[in-house]
Amino acid sequence: MDNPFRPSAGATPPEILGRNGVLDEFEYGLRLGSGAPGLLTIFTGARGIGKTVMIGAAHDLAREQGWAVISETATEGFMGRIGESMRQLAEELGTGPQTRRITAIAAAGFSITTQLPPERQVAWRTLGEGLLRLLDERKSGLIITVDEIHAADRNELAQLAASVQHFIQDRLPIGLVFAGLPAAVSDLLNEGVATFLRRADKIDLHAAAVMEVENSYAATFARAEIGLSPDSVRRAAEATGGYPFLIQLVGYFLWREAENNGGTLTEIEVGHAIDAAQRRHARTVIEAALATASPKDVDFLLAMAEDNGPSTAADIGHRLGARTNLVANYRARLLAAGLIESSGHGKVDFAIPGLRQHLRAQART
Ligand SMILES: Nc1ncnc2c1ncn2[C@@H]1O[C@H](COP(=O)(O)OP(=O)(O)OP(=O)(O)O)[C@@H](O)[C@H]1O
Ligand SMILES: [Mg+2]
Repeated sequence: MDNPFRPSAGATPPEILGRNGVLDEFEYGLRLGSGAPGLLTIFTGARGIGKTVMIGAAHDLAREQGWAVISETATEGFMGRIGESMRQLAEELGTGPQTRRITAIAAAGFSITTQLPPERQVAWRTLGEGLLRLLDERKSGLIITVDEIHAADRNELAQLAASVQHFIQDRLPIGLVFAGLPAAVSDLLNEGVATFLRRADKIDLHAAAVMEVENSYAATFARAEIGLSPDSVRRAAEATGGYPFLIQLVGYFLWREAENNGGTLTEIEVGHAIDAAQRRHARTVIEAALATASPKDVDFLLAMAEDNGPSTAADIGHRLGARTNLVANYRARLLAAGLIESSGHGKVDFAIPGLRQHLRAQART
């Protein structure tokens, strides 16, 4: 049996933990069709929490129900790329007059480097309408998924939202599934770029329960006849904190240790596996997240790392010797970047597991 764990961005894990019922509303929406609330869904959550995996799961569900799916990432030109995919879908669907009309409209192509100029926006909408009517006749519909919407160009996103709203008003079978970092997404929605998206079902993803990880590890390793004591399973599960990326990393390295150790794992190998997982997590998620932070951002984070739990703005300001509005400014930047999250009563905490320890170690060197 091959290593089933998948510690890689967007990779489908062997078992999706902690997400029971999360897609129920969406699935119901697929049955209900146009205008169902579940057909506008936004997944938010920290890095590595499993947003892209949920987009993939929504994609699979939609395909199973016979819906067409266009999957995009919100890098520049995504509207043009969606337009291009819509044309291809229409061509695959048939050769009737509607299809010929669609192909004619799309013939000029969509610029795929920037937002659409006004005349192409009209073409995009006409094309979408034609495609959705074709799908509607077949009792199907279209789901558009857009990942990383926190990085979206505001104008492009507004164009997409306006068109989709228009389709919904026309009772056409369309659904949107978005994913992005929480604070950046709420800024986006509050800025009024796409007011109608505020009605979307916002699902904030969190870590899975450690207990669930423990059960999943126990079952997975038992199936593979890898010897592992219940205490070791618990220790490994606790080391993940239920955080999806760490679930995959710890599982992956446990498996590797077992392969190198004739199929049994003692406390020593379990310790090695946990260390390796944490090192990999620091190198990938933590360092990538910190790479986007300015030196001032890092100072703010270092001031937070002095606390053992959530930090107050007053303490941070005091440690930095900074004014209140400056602290508020950096706080907002770091929230949007997904490095910190608010934890009630005006306090903030680290949004990525291990970030505090990483910063403390960095401060010591
Ligand atoms: N519910 C889950 N249970 C177990 N593992 C999961 C779950 N969701 C995601 N994973 C695993 O966690 C890792 C991160 O998942 P994913 O790439 O979807 O996160 P993300 O939130 O999109 O991260 P980013 O913000 O970096 O884009 C992957 O290795 C994936 O296999
Ligand atoms: Mg992702």
